[in-house]
Amino acid sequence: MLQTNPYATLTETVDPVFMQLFVFAMLIFVVVGTIIDTIHKKNVKYFFENAKKAKLSATKTLSTGEKLSVISKTIVSDIATTSELGAGQRRAAHILGMYGTIMFWISSVIMIFCYSSQSSDTPSLWPIIWHLGAIMTVLGGSWFWFFLRVDVYSEAQPWYRIIRADLFVLALIASSLFGLIWSFLQSLNLQDRWDDKVFLVFYILSNLVLFGGVYWSKFAHMFYKPGAAIQKNLAEADGSRDNLPPPADAPEQFGLGIKREEPKHY
Ligand code: HEM
Repeated sequence: MLQTNPYATLTETVDPVFMQLFVFAMLIFVVVGTIIDTIHKKNVKYFFENAKKAKLSATKTLSTGEKLSVISKTIVSDIATTSELGAGQRRAAHILGMYGTIMFWISSVIMIFCYSSQSSDTPSLWPIIWHLGAIMTVLGGSWFWFFLRVDVYSEAQPWYRIIRADLFVLALIASSLFGLIWSFLQSLNLQDRWDDKVFLVFYILSNLVLFGGVYWSKFAHMFYKPGAAIQKNLAEADGSRDNLPPPADAPEQFGLGIKREEPKHY
């Protein structure tokens, strides 16, 4: 199973053109959903206005080299390792899910566009990346959803309580999980049995929810967060600090109480 391109097997019943059109449709969903989201929330407008305002209080003009250095450090730390989440389970779960998803999506696109004809021979690397990416996404996403969600972790809500904010993470887990089950059942070669077809339908539906739900879910954070991290670090480097006060020039003395329990009641 791990070395089989599930999309190539699917071409026995579905024309690869339909799979390629599906990928284009998902891409359009993401672009349109994100644009409508930015128009509705006005977050991009606020972001640029705030950046322009903050620039007025800059104490230093950054050279292109300095800007590039800040941006590359941000890409390596804040974006590639989501340093915003600190050291700990939250960051580990996010990295697992984020890289799993990236591997799953990239290998899907490559297998669908380059190796989905019955005559083509998929290098085994791509199906392995696809399956591994799906497993990582399920593990990282479930770790976050079952144990680390703020409403469960800090607000003592039961793990089975589902709200709209869970749309993104649940659709993400579902699409990878259904993809894995579909690939497994298909690899059993059950001929005219219904099992793999049912999970293929679940796989398609969960992708429609994931990509079609961008406007309602947290999907677009993967575009906003990197932009915000770059802006924050540039604002720190040019001294404007987004018009926030500098850290106090005093020892960090918060009393013994702060050591009593990890801060987690938000
Ligand atoms: C393929 C890319 C990515 C995927 C699949 C992904 C996935 C996720 C998921 C599933 C969550 C939990 C959402 C929820 O609260 O229900 C999340 C939260 C978060 N993500 Fe991402 N993410 C991606 C990219 C990024 C990037 C590039 C950054 C930062 C630069 C980032 C920063 C965050 C932060 C700060 C949270 C909040 C975590 C928390 O509440 O504990 N993500 N992400």
